[in-house]
Amino acid sequence: MKLYKDYSLLAHNTFGMDVKAALFFEYETVDELRAFLLSDEFDKCRSHFIHIGSGSNLLFAGDYSGLVMHSVNCELTVVEDTPEYQLLRVGSGYVWDDFVAYCVEHQLAGVENLSAIPGEVGASAVQNIGAYGVEVCDVIERVETVDLMGNVRVFDKAACRYGYRDSVFKNELKGQYIVTHVVYRLMKSPTFKLDYGDLRARVEAEGVPTLQAVRGAVTAIRDSKLPNPKELGNAGSFFTNPVIERKQYEALLADNPTMPSYSIDDDHVKVPAGWLIEHVGWKGQALGHAAVHDRQALVLVNKGGATGAEVMALAQRISEDIYQKFGIRIVPEVNYIV
Ligand code: EPU
Repeated sequence: MKLYKDYSLLAHNTFGMDVKAALFFEYETVDELRAFLLSDEFDKCRSHFIHIGSGSNLLFAGDYSGLVMHSVNCELTVVEDTPEYQLLRVGSGYVWDDFVAYCVEHQLAGVENLSAIPGEVGASAVQNIGAYGVEVCDVIERVETVDLMGNVRVFDKAACRYGYRDSVFKNELKGQYIVTHVVYRLMKSPTFKLDYGDLRARVEAEGVPTLQAVRGAVTAIRDSKLPNPKELGNAGSFFTNPVIERKQYEALLADNPTMPSYSIDDDHVKVPAGWLIEHVGWKGQALGHAAVHDRQALVLVNKGGATGAEVMALAQRISEDIYQKFGIRIVPEVNYIV
């Protein structure tokens, strides 16, 4: 276990913000974490701390005056093996895409559409990461946590209350539990989900679909649209796609016949925030050192030297313009850390 003061977070946030944490705690085992949670150091920070993964969904407003915690627990064990499926128990610090690579290599199906998403296993279960028609909750069996007194609590999938980019850990129980392991159910016979965009065409161009082909196609699509955080700081989708009333959508279609939508239920549709941002003219535009990516308007980028405040100001301007033009409120998916 490691405990540092005035610790640089540059390597811990994909937006590339050069900020510091007053205290930084990194641990490998649940016992180390539990001991720390019972220590005087933690007690002093109890009301001002965050637990991060790889910092791929965070925006620091500036230096963080509290405690930042991070797991480097990279355990991976098979806890059940049947002819149909395997249950894999994975440590929260395991790099998400390394886990996807492991599954694909071992012919275990369920996460191949989630290839190349930045982040770690613990955050996957908090954010309910999703892409190309799959959400991680589709394969989550249970989530192991500890509370802030170090007591273990296991949440079955229903108790996690998963929704679109949402879970109980982001709402009612925010800041109360730390995810230590996630147990995933991976299938031995794949059911391919290829109906998002041009995924099927890309996969079938390779021949009969395989897990490797899906992983390759998803990675290629992402690489073509999404900026690499090592080259251009960003946190993936900056906003969630807003859900609006179908009536409002139908009224908007009259003036905006190309506005896309995904049906949610009889009364609601989801509208891509990227389309809205592009249609208020922000795609590729900058405000100070922050900008809207020129290939995917849903992604805000740090052109170099941007502050968190600059990115937040850009996000605010975009949201206001969208509300003015379409009457739709978009909200950040990225967590602001102040
Ligand atoms: N669009 C535009 N202009 C843009 C970007 C998108 O008009 O600049 C339109 C596209 O033409 C398309 C629609 O918006 O009709 C949807 O675009 P896309 O398929 O690229 O997906 P998205 O809705 O922008 C979501 C997720 C992504 C995920 C993709 C693929 C959210 C907030 N984002 O993006 O997740 O990779 O679907 O499933 O739900 C992430 O969370 O960081 C992320 C990248």
